[in-house]
Amino acid sequence: MTKRIAVCGKGGVGKTTVICGILNYLLEKQLTPILVVDADPNSNLAENLGVKYEITIADIREEIRNSEIPSYTSKADYINMRLQEAISEQNGFDLIVMGRPEGKECYCFVNELLRTFLSNLSKNYKYVLIDTEAGMEHFSRRTTDNIDVLIIITTPTKTSIQTVKKILEMLPKLKLKILSTKILLNFKDTTKNETDINIDGYIHTDNKIYQYSELGIPLLNNLNHTQFYNELKQFLNTIILNN
Ligand SMILES: Nc1ncnc2c1ncn2[C@@H]1O[C@H](COP(=O)(O)OP(=O)(O)OP(=O)(O)O)[C@@H](O)[C@H]1O
Ligand SMILES: [Mg+2]
Repeated sequence: MTKRIAVCGKGGVGKTTVICGILNYLLEKQLTPILVVDADPNSNLAENLGVKYEITIADIREEIRNSEIPSYTSKADYINMRLQEAISEQNGFDLIVMGRPEGKECYCFVNELLRTFLSNLSKNYKYVLIDTEAGMEHFSRRTTDNIDVLIIITTPTKTSIQTVKKILEMLPKLKLKILSTKILLNFKDTTKNETDINIDGYIHTDNKIYQYSELGIPLLNNLNHTQFYNELKQFLNTIILNN
Protein backbone atom coordinates (compact mmCIF):
# COMPACT_ATOMS: atom_id res chain seq x y z
CA MET A 1 0.00 0.00 0.00
CA THR A 2 1.20 3.48 -0.87
CA LYS A 3 1.89 5.76 2.11
CA ARG A 4 1.14 9.42 1.48
CA ILE A 5 2.97 11.96 3.66
CA ALA A 6 2.28 15.69 3.33
CA VAL A 7 3.73 18.77 5.04
CA CYS A 8 1.99 22.07 5.67
CA GLY A 9 2.50 25.17 7.82
CA LYS A 10 2.95 28.93 7.60
CA GLY A 11 5.30 30.41 4.97
CA GLY A 12 9.00 29.85 5.65
CA VAL A 13 8.64 27.33 8.51
CA GLY A 14 10.74 24.74 6.66
CA LYS A 15 8.20 22.65 4.69
CA THR A 16 10.35 22.24 1.58
CA THR A 17 13.52 21.59 3.62
CA VAL A 18 11.70 18.89 5.61
CA ILE A 19 10.37 17.22 2.43
CA CYS A 20 13.97 17.08 1.10
CA GLY A 21 14.99 15.51 4.43
CA ILE A 22 12.20 12.90 4.32
CA LEU A 23 13.16 12.00 0.75
CA ASN A 24 16.81 11.64 1.80
CA TYR A 25 15.71 9.38 4.69
CA LEU A 26 13.52 7.13 2.51
CA LEU A 27 16.24 6.83 -0.15
CA GLU A 28 18.79 5.94 2.55
CA LYS A 29 16.46 3.21 3.83
CA GLN A 30 15.77 2.10 0.25
CA LEU A 31 12.04 2.57 0.78
CA THR A 32 11.58 3.20 -2.93
CA PRO A 33 10.03 3.98 -5.39
CA ILE A 34 9.01 7.44 -4.17
CA LEU A 35 6.89 10.10 -5.85
CA VAL A 36 7.57 13.67 -4.73
CA VAL A 37 4.75 16.13 -5.45
CA ASP A 38 5.36 19.86 -5.32
CA ALA A 39 1.84 21.13 -4.57
CA ASP A 40 2.95 24.55 -3.34
CA PRO A 41 1.82 27.15 -5.91
CA ASN A 42 5.15 28.95 -5.37
CA SER A 43 7.07 25.81 -6.24
CA ASN A 44 10.77 25.66 -5.39
CA LEU A 45 11.16 22.04 -4.36
CA ALA A 46 13.00 21.05 -7.56
CA GLU A 47 15.69 23.68 -6.93
CA ASN A 48 16.10 22.46 -3.35
CA LEU A 49 16.47 18.90 -4.60
CA GLY A 50 18.84 19.96 -7.36
CA VAL A 51 16.69 18.43 -10.14
CA LYS A 52 14.98 19.74 -13.29
CA TYR A 53 11.48 19.34 -14.71
CA GLU A 54 9.91 20.15 -18.08
CA ILE A 55 6.31 21.12 -17.40
CA THR A 56 3.87 21.51 -14.51
CA ILE A 57 0.34 20.12 -14.20
CA ALA A 58 -0.94 23.72 -14.36
CA ASP A 59 0.89 24.24 -17.69
CA ILE A 60 -0.95 21.22 -19.10
CA ARG A 61 -4.32 22.47 -17.82
CA GLU A 62 -3.72 25.84 -19.51
CA GLU A 63 -2.58 24.17 -22.73
CA ILE A 64 -5.82 22.18 -22.91
CA ARG A 65 -8.01 25.15 -22.08
CA ASN A 66 -6.36 27.38 -24.65
CA SER A 67 -6.11 24.98 -27.55
CA GLU A 68 -8.70 23.32 -29.76
CA ILE A 69 -8.29 19.56 -29.63
CA PRO A 70 -10.86 17.89 -31.95
CA SER A 71 -12.44 14.77 -30.39
CA TYR A 72 -13.05 13.57 -26.82
CA THR A 73 -10.70 10.58 -27.11
CA SER A 74 -7.84 12.44 -28.67
CA LYS A 75 -8.13 15.08 -25.95
CA ALA A 76 -7.82 12.43 -23.21
CA ASP A 77 -4.94 10.77 -25.07
CA TYR A 78 -3.20 14.09 -25.51
CA ILE A 79 -3.56 14.97 -21.81
CA ASN A 80 -2.26 11.57 -20.73
CA MET A 81 0.73 11.89 -23.03
CA ARG A 82 1.57 15.36 -21.67
CA LEU A 83 1.10 14.14 -18.08
CA GLN A 84 3.62 11.36 -18.66
CA GLU A 85 6.04 14.05 -19.79
CA ALA A 86 5.41 15.97 -16.55
CA ILE A 87 6.98 13.15 -14.50
CA SER A 88 10.62 14.03 -13.90
CA GLU A 89 12.46 10.73 -13.39
CA GLN A 90 15.36 10.77 -10.94
CA ASN A 91 17.50 8.24 -9.16
CA GLY A 92 15.08 6.34 -6.85
CA PHE A 93 12.31 8.92 -7.08
CA ASP A 94 10.08 10.84 -9.48
CA LEU A 95 9.04 14.47 -9.16
CA ILE A 96 5.83 16.09 -10.32
CA VAL A 97 5.18 19.84 -10.00
CA MET A 98 1.57 21.02 -9.79
CA GLY A 99 2.14 24.75 -10.42
CA ARG A 100 -0.46 27.50 -10.10
CA PRO A 101 -3.85 26.42 -8.75
CA GLU A 102 -7.12 26.93 -10.64
CA GLY A 103 -9.17 29.86 -9.33
CA LYS A 104 -12.13 27.96 -7.94
CA GLU A 105 -13.19 24.40 -7.27
CA CYS A 106 -13.88 22.92 -10.68
CA TYR A 107 -15.04 19.43 -11.59
CA CYS A 108 -14.66 19.99 -15.31
CA PHE A 109 -13.31 17.37 -17.72
CA VAL A 110 -9.67 18.49 -17.54
CA ASN A 111 -9.50 18.69 -13.75
CA GLU A 112 -11.21 15.32 -13.36
CA LEU A 113 -8.64 13.79 -15.70
CA LEU A 114 -5.81 15.38 -13.73
CA ARG A 115 -7.20 14.10 -10.42
CA THR A 116 -7.60 10.57 -11.81
CA PHE A 117 -4.13 10.65 -13.31
CA LEU A 118 -2.50 11.68 -10.01
CA SER A 119 -4.47 9.08 -8.10
CA ASN A 120 -3.50 6.27 -10.49
CA LEU A 121 0.10 7.46 -10.65
CA SER A 122 0.41 7.44 -6.83
CA LYS A 123 -0.42 3.72 -6.73
CA ASN A 124 2.89 2.88 -8.43
CA TYR A 125 4.95 4.15 -5.50
CA LYS A 126 5.76 2.99 -1.99
CA TYR A 127 5.76 6.57 -0.68
CA VAL A 128 4.25 9.79 -1.97
CA LEU A 129 5.67 12.98 -0.41
CA ILE A 130 3.70 16.19 -0.83
CA ASP A 131 4.95 19.74 -0.25
CA THR A 132 1.87 21.97 0.13
CA GLU A 133 1.05 25.59 0.84
CA ALA A 134 -0.01 26.67 4.37
CA GLY A 135 -3.66 25.66 4.45
CA MET A 136 -3.73 22.85 1.89
CA GLU A 137 -6.98 24.22 0.41
CA HIS A 138 -5.74 24.17 -3.18
CA PHE A 139 -4.16 20.78 -2.82
CA SER A 140 -7.26 19.23 -1.30
CA ARG A 141 -9.19 20.12 -4.47
CA ARG A 142 -6.61 18.48 -6.66
CA THR A 143 -6.65 15.01 -5.19
CA THR A 144 -9.17 12.41 -4.12
CA ASP A 145 -6.72 10.30 -2.12
CA ASN A 146 -6.23 10.16 1.64
CA ILE A 147 -3.18 11.49 3.42
CA ASP A 148 -1.69 8.94 5.81
CA VAL A 149 0.43 11.39 7.78
CA LEU A 150 0.10 15.17 7.71
CA ILE A 151 3.11 16.91 9.26
CA ILE A 152 2.21 20.42 10.40
CA ILE A 153 5.43 22.38 10.78
CA THR A 154 5.76 25.39 13.08
CA THR A 155 8.42 27.71 14.42
CA PRO A 156 8.33 28.81 18.09
CA THR A 157 6.69 32.15 17.14
CA LYS A 158 3.17 32.97 18.29
CA THR A 159 1.93 33.61 14.74
CA SER A 160 3.25 30.30 13.46
CA ILE A 161 1.65 28.41 16.36
CA GLN A 162 -1.58 30.31 15.70
CA THR A 163 -1.43 28.99 12.11
CA VAL A 164 -1.12 25.42 13.44
CA LYS A 165 -4.29 25.94 15.47
CA LYS A 166 -6.10 27.34 12.42
CA ILE A 167 -4.96 24.40 10.27
CA LEU A 168 -6.15 21.92 12.92
CA GLU A 169 -9.55 23.65 12.97
CA MET A 170 -9.79 23.70 9.18
CA LEU A 171 -8.77 20.08 8.51
CA PRO A 172 -12.14 18.46 9.25
CA LYS A 173 -13.74 20.84 6.70
CA LEU A 174 -11.55 19.55 3.85
CA LYS A 175 -12.90 16.77 1.65
CA LEU A 176 -9.51 15.14 1.96
CA LYS A 177 -9.28 12.41 4.60
CA ILE A 178 -6.24 12.72 6.89
CA LEU A 179 -5.48 9.59 8.88
CA SER A 180 -2.92 11.03 11.29
CA THR A 181 -1.52 14.47 12.13
CA LYS A 182 1.92 15.22 13.62
CA ILE A 183 3.31 18.56 14.74
CA LEU A 184 6.99 19.29 14.13
CA LEU A 185 8.64 22.28 15.80
CA ASN A 186 11.40 23.70 13.58
CA PHE A 187 13.88 26.46 14.50
CA LYS A 188 13.60 25.36 18.13
CA ASP A 189 15.18 27.83 20.52
CA THR A 190 16.87 25.98 23.39
CA THR A 191 16.54 28.85 25.82
CA LYS A 192 12.75 28.99 25.84
CA ASN A 193 9.88 26.73 26.73
CA GLU A 194 8.13 27.51 23.55
CA THR A 195 4.62 26.29 22.88
CA ASP A 196 1.25 25.58 24.39
CA ILE A 197 0.52 22.83 21.83
CA ASN A 198 1.66 19.20 21.88
CA ILE A 199 4.76 18.70 19.78
CA ASP A 200 5.65 15.32 18.22
CA GLY A 201 9.20 16.25 17.23
CA TYR A 202 11.61 19.17 17.04
CA ILE A 203 14.55 20.47 15.04
CA HIS A 204 16.92 23.20 16.21
CA THR A 205 18.10 26.05 14.03
CA ASP A 206 21.03 24.70 12.00
CA ASN A 207 23.21 27.31 10.32
CA LYS A 208 24.56 24.72 7.87
CA ILE A 209 21.05 24.34 6.40
CA TYR A 210 20.59 28.07 6.13
CA GLN A 211 24.00 28.38 4.44
CA TYR A 212 23.03 25.76 1.86
CA SER A 213 19.97 27.75 0.89
CA GLU A 214 21.91 31.02 0.83
CA LEU A 215 24.51 29.52 -1.49
CA GLY A 216 21.92 27.62 -3.58
CA ILE A 217 23.41 24.23 -2.68
CA PRO A 218 20.83 21.44 -3.20
CA LEU A 219 19.89 19.61 0.00
CA LEU A 220 19.55 16.07 -1.27
CA ASN A 221 22.70 14.04 -0.45
CA ASN A 222 24.17 17.02 1.44
CA LEU A 223 22.14 16.60 4.62
CA ASN A 224 24.05 13.73 6.21
CA HIS A 225 25.76 14.63 9.51
CA THR A 226 23.85 17.89 9.89
CA GLN A 227 22.04 18.50 13.19
CA PHE A 228 18.90 19.23 11.17
CA TYR A 229 18.94 15.78 9.57
CA ASN A 230 19.84 13.94 12.79
CA GLU A 231 16.89 15.49 14.59
CA LEU A 232 14.56 14.99 11.63
CA LYS A 233 15.56 11.30 11.52
CA GLN A 234 14.60 10.86 15.18
CA PHE A 235 11.16 12.28 14.40
CA LEU A 236 10.79 10.18 11.24
CA ASN A 237 11.76 6.98 13.03
CA THR A 238 8.59 7.39 15.09
CA ILE A 239 6.38 8.08 12.05
CA ILE A 240 7.74 5.83 9.32
CA LEU A 241 8.24 2.77 11.51
CA ASN A 242 4.85 3.17 13.16
CA ASN A 243 2.89 3.44 9.94
N1 LIG B 1 16.23 24.11 11.11
C1 LIG B 1 16.65 25.06 10.29
N2 LIG B 1 17.77 25.77 10.58
C2 LIG B 1 18.21 26.76 9.77
N3 LIG B 1 17.62 27.13 8.62
C3 LIG B 1 16.49 26.46 8.28
C4 LIG B 1 15.95 25.39 9.08
N4 LIG B 1 14.83 24.93 8.47
C5 LIG B 1 14.68 25.67 7.35
N5 LIG B 1 15.67 26.58 7.23
C6 LIG B 1 15.83 27.64 6.21
O1 LIG B 1 14.68 28.47 6.28
C7 LIG B 1 14.30 28.92 4.99
C8 LIG B 1 12.85 28.51 4.70
O2 LIG B 1 12.79 27.10 4.61
P1 LIG B 1 11.84 26.39 3.53
O3 LIG B 1 12.00 26.99 2.21
O4 LIG B 1 12.02 24.94 3.70
O5 LIG B 1 10.44 26.83 4.15
P2 LIG B 1 9.00 26.66 3.49
O6 LIG B 1 8.06 26.46 4.61
O7 LIG B 1 9.03 25.62 2.44
O8 LIG B 1 8.80 28.10 2.83
P3 LIG B 1 7.66 28.54 1.79
O9 LIG B 1 6.44 28.76 2.63
O10 LIG B 1 8.21 29.81 1.24
O11 LIG B 1 7.52 27.42 0.80
C9 LIG B 1 15.29 28.32 4.02
O12 LIG B 1 16.31 29.27 3.79
C10 LIG B 1 15.85 27.11 4.78
O13 LIG B 1 17.18 26.80 4.40
MG1 LIG C 1 8.46 25.70 0.40
